[in-house]
Amino acid sequence: MKILVTGNMGYVGPLVVRRLRESHPQATLIGYDMGYFAHCLTGASRLPESREDQQYFGDIRDVPEQTLQGIDAIIHLCAISNDPMGATFEKVTLDINHRASIDLARKAKRAGVKKFVFASSCSVYGFAEGGPRREEDALNPLTAYAKSKVQTEQDLAALASESFIATSLRFATACGMSDRLRLDLVLNDFVAGAIVSKRINILSDGTPWRPLIHVKDMARAIDWAVQRDRRDGGSFLTINVGSDAWNYQVKDLAAAVANLVPNVEVSINKDAQPDKRSYRVNFDKFSKLAQGFLPTVDLQSAVKDLRDGLLAMQFRDQEFRTGELIRLVTLKRLRESGQLTDDLVWKERSNV
Ligand SMILES: NC(=O)c1ccc[n+]([C@@H]2O[C@H](COP(=O)([O-])OP(=O)(O)OC[C@H]3O[C@@H](n4cnc5c(N)ncnc54)[C@H](O)[C@@H]3O)[C@@H](O)[C@H]2O)c1
Repeated sequence: MKILVTGNMGYVGPLVVRRLRESHPQATLIGYDMGYFAHCLTGASRLPESREDQQYFGDIRDVPEQTLQGIDAIIHLCAISNDPMGATFEKVTLDINHRASIDLARKAKRAGVKKFVFASSCSVYGFAEGGPRREEDALNPLTAYAKSKVQTEQDLAALASESFIATSLRFATACGMSDRLRLDLVLNDFVAGAIVSKRINILSDGTPWRPLIHVKDMARAIDWAVQRDRRDGGSFLTINVGSDAWNYQVKDLAAAVANLVPNVEVSINKDAQPDKRSYRVNFDKFSKLAQGFLPTVDLQSAVKDLRDGLLAMQFRDQEFRTGELIRLVTLKRLRESGQLTDDLVWKERSNV
């Protein structure tokens, strides 16, 4: 089996490749990435991409059709992947996350790719009161990022067929250690703050609901989706990925971190504007269909894993919120130093 992973050089990708290497030892694993964050390694003992058979440095906006010939499954992680980046690079976000994703799916279908796994997000629920959201519930995408995921899901549904099985995994907010750690995610930010300054600054009033999932468990779910058969959910399936036990309020996450990192002070921003993003999610469908691939990491283990990972890196950057482990900061720096164009194309590779 040949599996192509787009966006493999990000936060989630290295764990996906590790997982596939274990579960499909005979598979040919191929990465496809622009490498925006390739240099942002965090305590990796080897280049994560060395676990693959082949790596392309390419732009998903113009992936050559011949690259997809002979591929059995595509795991499509590549995206401008959070709300702040979507706000700063709105046009590019819609172009990469929606238009180019669907273009990739069309090319893949033409090339005979059999499985297409799309990394969507529970942020499509936006602000949702009245109980945990199910897949069929109304969506409320509040940002360019969330809108791009909704549009891609809709168009992907129309492309799926008996011979092109597509799965849209609506992931909860990720957390946990990676070879390319991000600190622009709520739990990761709390653990980093606790370690470097003995403080957790909650930017909201702490009440928003935020379901979480560990990156290792995201990789398990992706492995399930690669193997998913049409009998388990049909040619196109949209599914919430996470677990009911991980529907937390932000203040609970801070408390869990404070329990495991000694002498930490938690501050809540009482004057914060109400957080527009707050939702609980129902994961019944995932529990039913993905037996054997359900989340295994609990909150305590996730915090310990982050704490130990950051300590092993001797992480001391008190200014980490303006550092390179914040994706928006890295992209802006690459843009401002003239290495990327306004459209986020590498200058040396573009014709400008
Ligand atoms: N991290 C989360 O909390 C989370 C939650 C839900 C869903 N997701 C989704 O999972 C996927 C992976 O997330 P992540 O956290 O690893 O993101 P990331 O930003 O860390 O990595 C994305 C990767 O895509 C690559 N990329 C971006 N544009 C590209 C282009 N035009 N051509 C080729 N490569 C390009 C980047 O270089 C980067 O390596 C994304 O689709 C994201 O939206 C993430």
